[in-house]
Amino acid sequence: MIAPETIREVTDRIDIVDVVGEFVKLRRRGSNYLGLCPFHGEKTPSFNVSQSKGIFKCFGCGKSGNAITFVMEHEKYSYVEAIKWLARRYGIAVEETAMSEEAREHMQAAESLYIINGFAQKFFHEQLLGTEEGEQIALSYLKERGFNRPIIEKFGLGYNPDSPDIFAQAAVKNQYSRDVLMKTGLVRSYQDRLQDNYRGRIIFPIHNNSGKVIGFGARIIGKKDKAPKYINTPENEIYIKSRILYGSYFARHTIDKENECLLVEGYTDVLGLAQAGIENVVASGGTSLTIEQLRLIKKYTQNLTIIYDGDKAGVKAALRGLDMALEEGLNVRLVLIPDGEDPDSYVRQLGADQFKEFIQKNKKDFILFQLEILMKDAGTDITKKNDAVNRIAESLSKISKAEDFTKQQEYIRQCSDVLKIDEHGLTNLVNKYRRDNLSKLEKKHHQGKSATEIDSAAPPDIETPAAEQEIATLDTGNIQERNLLRVLLEFGLKPWKDNWTIADYIFDEIQGFPFEHQDNEKLLEYYRRSYNEGSNPNTASFQYIEDKEMQELVVAITLTPYEISRRWDEKIPGKKSDSIVDRDVSKQDAQNSVIYFKLRKIKQMLEITQKEIMEADDFEDQIKQLHIQKHLKQEEKNLTDQLGTVIFK
Ligand code: GTP
Ligand code: MN
Repeated sequence: MIAPETIREVTDRIDIVDVVGEFVKLRRRGSNYLGLCPFHGEKTPSFNVSQSKGIFKCFGCGKSGNAITFVMEHEKYSYVEAIKWLARRYGIAVEETAMSEEAREHMQAAESLYIINGFAQKFFHEQLLGTEEGEQIALSYLKERGFNRPIIEKFGLGYNPDSPDIFAQAAVKNQYSRDVLMKTGLVRSYQDRLQDNYRGRIIFPIHNNSGKVIGFGARIIGKKDKAPKYINTPENEIYIKSRILYGSYFARHTIDKENECLLVEGYTDVLGLAQAGIENVVASGGTSLTIEQLRLIKKYTQNLTIIYDGDKAGVKAALRGLDMALEEGLNVRLVLIPDGEDPDSYVRQLGADQFKEFIQKNKKDFILFQLEILMKDAGTDITKKNDAVNRIAESLSKISKAEDFTKQQEYIRQCSDVLKIDEHGLTNLVNKYRRDNLSKLEKKHHQGKSATEIDSAAPPDIETPAAEQEIATLDTGNIQERNLLRVLLEFGLKPWKDNWTIADYIFDEIQGFPFEHQDNEKLLEYYRRSYNEGSNPNTASFQYIEDKEMQELVVAITLTPYEISRRWDEKIPGKKSDSIVDRDVSKQDAQNSVIYFKLRKIKQMLEITQKEIMEADDFEDQIKQLHIQKHLKQEEKNLTDQLGTVIFK
């Protein structure tokens, strides 16, 4: 914990123009400062900073805040990290209250590792660029592979000369502790003397998200059969393999802006793409993705595009791990690079524009991709097909966050289509898997705290999803009703067509389809009444009504992102993600919400009709029910057809 005095001292000293100015070029404009907004791509400045008020606001994207929130947003820092960053900037000593002995030791160890790594990075970099051996052996190799000087400098590449202890000696001369040096993995002890561990290798420094070097990848030059191609830093206080994404420090702002993260396997792929101007790229280092890496990506974007070499046999195995990404609510897409190429070689061959086009054209939704592979595998084998259905249902059950509910519905629709199975059946299967997930989760929860306490290696930020929210998603009717209410509150007063508002449209469409949930119904009626009275209801006006419960319901509805179409919007081919901000999605949102609401109602009616048909004891009655059934099925088809035109490529 940071001491309150430190926080006060920092906030007293902050000059917002100075802080923002670190990242954004600001020009004075009257009493304010103006610059290009770092949070959305823009060509004419609409990002305002007021020095006297200590705040910033972008009139383009609407983002606003103070110096602390700016640093938090821009650097994706937590509050504490932001304070620490500011404190360092203003030379204020950070006083921490009640830090445990263990935590202090950990911090000190980490600090000395950072220092040595920083020294080593500079040392190797100089060896690469400023010595004859470096130039002739390492730099020439990199040049031969097509890497230019700016990219080598940007990523801080280096070279560890091919002699026993040139780095070790330099480090010892600097009086770095032997123990810490050993921990960095840069040296090893041989007959009581320190020797270089990465002799004759190209050095790829690995940065954390604030740009500090946490470790290295050391690549052999050329091909040698016996030695491993890469050697990496061993795990230590700061190099935690499961949390590392190579290149994330250089890629993070572009990932943010492009709203997409490209994931490749190799260090050199990151370099190759960056050199071609494709900068939203990180590398996983050839292993399957961890939940921590996924969360790191999610800080910047929901859209993950994985670029694999086509000849990798591991693709199928890798797919399995991607269920985690679904659980995290990421939109995962896959692209396979043609046989024999990797992203680095392929971008060189095609050039940046064509490469980008290739990615955009060939990226496939992960679920559908998986489905394709499984189906191809299964052929006509019934058992295998059965397995495929189960496998897909299990994947789909991982889409569990309330906000992704409609995404899941859409997948179910598409997958049952491809699999040629009943949509309803697939829904049930998905729900069964979801219940399994839930009871597993619950069991884990009930096993008590002791288990988590013992497992101190577990990252501290794994939150158990609120069981209530999870269960709420099973109750699909509730979500669809709330979604309609959200659209009413947000967009009800906006125009629909002719002189109709969106509220008029929704009221007209849902006539004869009553809400099932009492509180939702109550809110709907309340809205209807004030709308008819002409008092222009919206989210804000509902904050002032006396009925406390309803007020809370409004907050719950509008804050929980029961969003449909904003996500869908991203999937319209050819639409750039940054245009989302300006697009008016209200009509589409309204229409989709109505469709999903009605689809559910129709399903319920179909179930009832089915039962009536089975139970009917007179022929005429049965015929009548069959007619109704046919009519309902037609209606259902009409609705799903309307959806089909909007979603997915
Ligand atoms: P180039 O072959 O030079 O293009 O390197 P690359 O970085 O593209 O390597 P490659 O595609 O062979 O492997 C992908 C990633 O897997 C690398 O960037 C490394 O992170 C990792 N990797 C590959 N080989 C080894 C190895 O021998 N040891 C370790 N620790 N990691 C490796
Ligand atoms: Mn490669």
